[in-house]
Amino acid sequence: MHQFVLVIDFGGQYNQLIARRVRECGVYCEVRSYQITVEEIKKLNPIGIIFTGGPNSVYLEKAPKVDPALFDMGIPVLGLCYGSQLMSYSLGGKVESRDETREYGKTETFYNTNSLIFKGLPQKAISWMSHTDYIAEIPEGFKVTAHTANCPVAAMEDASRKLYGIQFHPEVNHTENGIKMIRNFLYEVCGAKGDWSMQDYAVSAVKAIKEKVGDKSALLALSGGVDSSVVAALMSRAIGKQLTCIFVDHGLMRKNEGDEVEAVFGNSGINFVRVNAEDRFLKRLAGVEEPEAKRKIIGEEFIRVFEEEAKKIGKVDFLVQGTIYPDVIESGAGDASVIKSHHNVGGLPDYVDFKEIIEPLRMLFKDEVRALGAELGLPKELVWRQPFPGPGLAIRVIGDITKEKLDILRDADAIFRQEIANAGLDRDVHQYFAVLTSMRSVGVMGDERTYDYTLALRGVTTTDFMTADWARIPFDVLEKCSSRIINEVRHINRIVYDITSKPPATIEWE
Ligand code: XMP
Repeated sequence: MHQFVLVIDFGGQYNQLIARRVRECGVYCEVRSYQITVEEIKKLNPIGIIFTGGPNSVYLEKAPKVDPALFDMGIPVLGLCYGSQLMSYSLGGKVESRDETREYGKTETFYNTNSLIFKGLPQKAISWMSHTDYIAEIPEGFKVTAHTANCPVAAMEDASRKLYGIQFHPEVNHTENGIKMIRNFLYEVCGAKGDWSMQDYAVSAVKAIKEKVGDKSALLALSGGVDSSVVAALMSRAIGKQLTCIFVDHGLMRKNEGDEVEAVFGNSGINFVRVNAEDRFLKRLAGVEEPEAKRKIIGEEFIRVFEEEAKKIGKVDFLVQGTIYPDVIESGAGDASVIKSHHNVGGLPDYVDFKEIIEPLRMLFKDEVRALGAELGLPKELVWRQPFPGPGLAIRVIGDITKEKLDILRDADAIFRQEIANAGLDRDVHQYFAVLTSMRSVGVMGDERTYDYTLALRGVTTTDFMTADWARIPFDVLEKCSSRIINEVRHINRIVYDITSKPPATIEWE
């Protein structure tokens, strides 16, 4: 239905960012592994192909390559970083490694603005370089269209064959006009029309769901997070009462969150079931300290409660899941090692009697899911809710969990969130929360000695949650949080701010 751009992944760290940039330009795209064949590409019928970067050197035997026939398909190709080196190497150019030519970071770059890629740009600007190898010789038929002091081929092209290579990373914000270069490739070279918008997507998704479900029934595990809420709103618009949403309130949500979810979905024209299962969860978690053990118990218990409720409904035709694109994206090279087992409530296909799964958000990035939520009229607080782990506050109370500790944490966390919002920082700090350490220390309040908990505040900035930096929250905001929390929440007498990035730390403490 939409024009399609194919992003071929060579294991670069920015692969998803490239795809997001393309979609931001109003063009639909998907990321596929470099192992895709020319036949498969033909079937997808893309208007253009973009190669991502990657950690390898093209001349290594193991390095990911593509069938050179890809370059003869008549489809425009844009190679970025490793992708440009691979293009050069595959077409008879030379790629080498020399100490003098490696470049990392912001680099002054000179552009030939007669190139369609650099059309309308200044002739000199900053680009973001990150490479050891460089293109030493361009293939026959190509010409150089950008250079830097150290890199003779910062960009090259064979416009007659619509093949373009860029050594730097136009997809990152540090490259001035980078998005313009991507836009130029899409619109000037590939003939994009810009037919990807959330408004159109909502209309066509509702239509497709209606056709698929017909007069049958569907079941959804609603967690109150952005993805499951948006999917509930979308399904509800498409099939109304044929949808049942089960919201398992495990008692590990933030302050008032359960009620907020009920307020939005309780009267929304769907069948909404809230199960208050706090006691069950707390009983099973009592005395358990080890984070992975806690996660496992919560995952199991969640499935059990959900299953019991689903049985009351009987057989359903469709199980709906809020899977989004970053969860399904194929990886180009290598497997990342598992640091924590992440639970997403909603992952339960084996346990419920249903015929088929539907995943209406499967092709959307997080920001697109939010845009769709706004399009469907969900409240702002819900659409902009920051990520919240499936196991909830259970992994933000360090060590064993009690109702008392959870309540302390909920109150402190609510104050922290309120103050961040009051300071206008809630969109700039991508995730922020409080952690109740189980450490206690001595303090003095009034003239009394206290021996109470230490609370940690954590705020991070990140694009993908894979890496993150600690947020530079202004001291006066932190001070306000600290004094309000100490004054308003009993049993906390010390507050610390977490100043570690990820890696080496993770975002959550457990
Ligand atoms: P970490 O702590 O691994 O977290 O740096 C990365 C992102 O994932 C969230 N997170 C989870 N989300 N189930 C989830 O659905 C989980 O078990 C889980 N653990 C961490 C975390 O909040 C951060 O956004």
